[in-house]
Amino acid sequence: MSNKAILEYDGKKYEFPVLIGTENEVAIDIEKLRGQSGIITLDPGFKNTGSCKSAITFLDGEKGILQYRGYTIEELSEKSSFIEVAFLLIFGELPTQVELEKFKKDIKKESMVSEEMKNILDGFPRSAHPMGVLSSLTSALTAFNPIPVNVNDPKAVYNAVCKIIGKFAVISAWAFRNSEGLPLNYSDNTVDYVENFMQLMFKIPTEKYVVSPAVVKAMDQLLILHEDHEQNCSTATVRVVGSSHAGLFASISAGVSALWGPLHGGANQAVIEMLEEIQNDGGDVEKFILKAKDPNDPFRLMGFGHRVYKNFDPRAKIIKKAADDVLESLGIEDPILDIAKHLEEVALKDEYFVSRKLYPNVDFYSGIIYRALGIPTGMFTVMFAVGRLPGWIAQWLEMREGKEPIGRPRQLYVGATKRPYVDIDKR
Ligand code: ACO
Repeated sequence: MSNKAILEYDGKKYEFPVLIGTENEVAIDIEKLRGQSGIITLDPGFKNTGSCKSAITFLDGEKGILQYRGYTIEELSEKSSFIEVAFLLIFGELPTQVELEKFKKDIKKESMVSEEMKNILDGFPRSAHPMGVLSSLTSALTAFNPIPVNVNDPKAVYNAVCKIIGKFAVISAWAFRNSEGLPLNYSDNTVDYVENFMQLMFKIPTEKYVVSPAVVKAMDQLLILHEDHEQNCSTATVRVVGSSHAGLFASISAGVSALWGPLHGGANQAVIEMLEEIQNDGGDVEKFILKAKDPNDPFRLMGFGHRVYKNFDPRAKIIKKAADDVLESLGIEDPILDIAKHLEEVALKDEYFVSRKLYPNVDFYSGIIYRALGIPTGMFTVMFAVGRLPGWIAQWLEMREGKEPIGRPRQLYVGATKRPYVDIDKR
């Protein structure tokens, strides 16, 4: 493999180093391009642009591979737990038993949220989307924790990590309880993170809340599958916002907003709404496939396609099986699942989807499990955010600890050229 790349422009040659990643990915380092030549590259949507070096997640979209710190998503989702994987992503190695127990305990110590936060929540109408509420409450945490984390102090970093993981579950559940008009719950530190999160969301003060281990396991697995996904829209947002040295909570809040969109994490909500629409329309899957293929129709098959995966999203495979298991263990027959399976079968044989390499993504089946677990559609993307939090933290820390420069892209200006100001009475 060559270790340099040459660009020729306007009769001059420019030479750039070529970097090879640990999984043999190749990148041309154009850091000095503008300085040397005065020209920039143009790459809308950053389809070809690596914004950083990262040692957290490896993803091969062609082969359908996803690894966190070198461990496959298949192995982690089967053998590990959400908090253990969070430790792995954030601190780089799997924890020892002692480290894991301490981490869990320290997160639990942070599972109280200032009572004044309830006043902020009270200001939202019940109809507010829980993602908007979550983003606002995450940002508001800054007001109650105003000292920015010192990224050069490992103890301060550790404490900040425990703080945000501990409090995020509470404010996520509160966003849900607000939308349902239910009283807010406090954490129960006698149970693990995932079970506590379920209690925070679903416990009614007048009743004992019992959740089956199968449900906790399915939820834990879903959260693991969502923990990180290298430089996606929300993670890139967290890194860019943090690169201005905005605090951790403010950066995570921006990530929540980026995740909300239906082309990103919001797709899990959009998938269920689409499947319900197909069901209410009589269940004619082929009709909706035709709509998705029609260039004049804005309709897209939600839960299909991915910027990076040009093969099956490995997370979708695991989630599809988990959806079957959860529905079976809860004894639920969901006609929506049949529509989803039919849709997948037809799309995977259709030339339009095959030629564009459009496969089901992580969001295609996750909503079906959330539904089975009794989580309302409006909360699906919040579930994604709870899962993605450790990845955002790990990426934010990597960016700050690596002393990355402020994220500030260039542009190709195509607007009006210099012209004189026209007085208002002459326009
Ligand atoms: N349904 C129908 N056609 C599609 C779909 C879809 N879901 N996705 C892509 N296409 C088509 C496009 O129309 C385009 O066709 P063309 O070449 O004839 O113009 C071609 O496939 C390439 O699509 P792009 O939009 O250029 O691909 P891009 O990488 O920019 O977008 C994205 C990826 C946003 C995920 C897109 O596939 C999409 O909108 N999918 C539906 C939303 C979704 O499921 N998002 C969740 C992604 S996973 C995640 O974020 C967690």
